Amino acid sequence: MARSDELLLGVSGCPPAQQTAAKRGKPSLPPFFFAPAPRSTADSAVYNSGSLLPDFSSAATRRMHRPWPYPRVVAHRGGGTLAPENTLAAIRKAGMMGFRGVEFDVVLSADKVPLLMHDETLDRTTNGKGSVAATLYAKLARLDAGAWFSPEYRGERVPTFEEAGKLCARLGLWANVEIKPARGFQRETAVAVAKLALELWSGASPAPLLSSFEPVSLETARAEAPDLDRGYLTDRLAPGWNEAARALGCVSVHCNSQHLTEAQADEVRGAGYWLLCYTVNEPAIARRLFSWGIDAIFTDRLDLIPPDFA
Ligand code: G3P
Ligand code: CA
Repeated sequence: MARSDELLLGVSGCPPAQQTAAKRGKPSLPPFFFAPAPRSTADSAVYNSGSLLPDFSSAATRRMHRPWPYPRVVAHRGGGTLAPENTLAAIRKAGMMGFRGVEFDVVLSADKVPLLMHDETLDRTTNGKGSVAATLYAKLARLDAGAWFSPEYRGERVPTFEEAGKLCARLGLWANVEIKPARGFQRETAVAVAKLALELWSGASPAPLLSSFEPVSLETARAEAPDLDRGYLTDRLAPGWNEAARALGCVSVHCNSQHLTEAQADEVRGAGYWLLCYTVNEPAIARRLFSWGIDAIFTDRLDLIPPDFA
């Protein structure tokens, strides 16, 4: 059997981006990446149809929910409450604790370097002050992003997206990259993130899923990197969410666990999207959400909700 055929067989249960990588002759992927067996006859029909791309034009296909192929417990902002958020140390912490997926936020510096940061300002998570979007990368790179958290992390830096992506690949971690643009930079940030994501994940590691609260960023990411999965991020499911997510070609919906109802969970999954909830820090709530059929949760409490919780 030709090497390329072996690769294709190996990823037949993987999302499109990974199939594309395999077709290009890239190495096979970490074991967790392989999709579990279909859960129902309806699922089998989708698997056997040979098309793993969500086809949102077909209502029948939308109703047939396929198993979520990524980790079900995702370490939020890298290492949740156990390490300074959105740092390499946080990602390492998640890896050391056995997590197989991390979420982090990406924003642009004034000179358009994509880097990890949640807030629009530097004040809370670094020893700097002022707007991230107005600060040059050279200055950002000198800041301390760990001391605010604890002396143990003094000297931790603000990582670039490139550094974080490479670390995820090295550790075999799947990444949910949240495009977190500063106001007015929705398109620019998405272009930079999508382009770099394509470059960074053109190799063996599982491709990231790009998510955003900003529809314009998702639309831009789709244009730049159509093969990368996209997630529709929303605090609450507002009327019209389905049309919006579908128009943006999203494969998943990510919403705030505090506002989600079981009926809404049924609605989202019934419409064919994978459903993720943030930020779930209590095991009892995680249990309840999984009992509703939620596909994955983001957690800050890596100590209370371990990677194999689900
Ligand atoms: O992506 C889920 C979650 O991270 C969204 O909220 O504010 O923590 O980025 P936030
Ligand atoms: Ca986030």
